[in-house]
Amino acid sequence: MAEPRVLFVCLGNICRSPLAEAAFRAEAAATGLKAVAASAGTADYHVGEPPDPRAIRTAARFGIDISGYRGRQASTDDFRAFSHIFALDRSNLANLQRIAPADHAAHLGLLLDLVPGRAGQGVTDPWYGDEEGFLETWAEVTAAAQALVRRLASTD
Ligand code: 4NP
Repeated sequence: MAEPRVLFVCLGNICRSPLAEAAFRAEAAATGLKAVAASAGTADYHVGEPPDPRAIRTAARFGIDISGYRGRQASTDDFRAFSHIFALDRSNLANLQRIAPADHAAHLGLLLDLVPGRAGQGVTDPWYGDEEGFLETWAEVTAAAQALVRRLASTD
């Protein structure tokens, strides 16, 4: 099967989805899975900006540098460019469904549907909280990344 191309999508693309992208990249590298990974936001508030400093510090605690990531907005073209698109919460899943082309072939789903016991739930949005919230977000996106890499490795 072709190399999976995975896009993670939240609202601003500066907190949750960059961490999801980083966790997935780390997990794929650790297991030798070849995949393309990217992230985007459904809003345009932070296009061109680096991740939130709290997200950068959180990834750095786990040895990952995301300071070079830049915010971008999800678009209809992403449904052709990516094979798998994961929304970080239900409201962004609904935003994506609104811009999805009728004939798209990408898998579109909620990220935590991959994690046993978490189906239907959204990843914690740490934007309004303190830095501890980013650790909770990191734990959630890491659990999802592990499940996703296992799934992609077994089906590809
Ligand atoms: P993210 O967090 O969607 O996880 O990147 C947010 C970032 C920015 C805003 C909201 C959530 N904002 O309202 O600007």
